[in-house]
Amino acid sequence: MQKEHVYNKDILEVIITEKQIQKRIKELGREITEAYDESDDIVMLCVLRGAVLFMSDLSRQINLPVVFDFMDVSSYEGTSSSGMVRIIKDLEENIEGRDVLIIEDIMDTGLTLKHVIDLLKTREPASIKIATLLDKPERRVEKEVSADFNGFEVPDKFVVGYGLDYQEKYRNLPYIGVLKEELYI
Ligand code: IMP
Ligand code: MG
Repeated sequence: MQKEHVYNKDILEVIITEKQIQKRIKELGREITEAYDESDDIVMLCVLRGAVLFMSDLSRQINLPVVFDFMDVSSYEGTSSSGMVRIIKDLEENIEGRDVLIIEDIMDTGLTLKHVIDLLKTREPASIKIATLLDKPERRVEKEVSADFNGFEVPDKFVVGYGLDYQEKYRNLPYIGVLKEELYI
């Protein structure tokens, strides 16, 4: 018998199971493969650190030549958006004329992605698309930004697991759950 996950006690409720995540990622992989069937120059751009697990699983379901790149931006203090976005690590690839697929863990206010997209556009890629595992549409401030590929819609609650953190913890939980409020209030 496997020991229970150490983080389970901090989770109020599991909202997306490991099995549901993996099933949905397979579907997204197929959708993305079809959407880009004309392209042989795709840069999968992982927004660190939350999207690392999603990038890793999703990329293996995409049957196209892709290259990996990573970007680190900071947008959050605690559990609410500060509206400030800082580039901590820029991407390495030259994206001019190439198809960029941004991989995000969750779209919340949309401010982070708006900022990232504005920056990438100045480098003249052929296209920019967004794949996000989770979408919290109720919280959107930046109405122009929407995901081209979206795993699941989630309610306006603070969620962790499968890459998403609270103060860098919980990323290695295999499912998505709502964090108990007493842990962050
Ligand atoms: P946005 O700029 O408000 O869209 O914020 C996006 C970033 O905020 C995500 O990439 C996450 O790192 C973080 N974030 C937003 N909501 C949550 C949540 O419920 N749990 C964990 N991180 C979150
Ligand atoms: Mg985060």
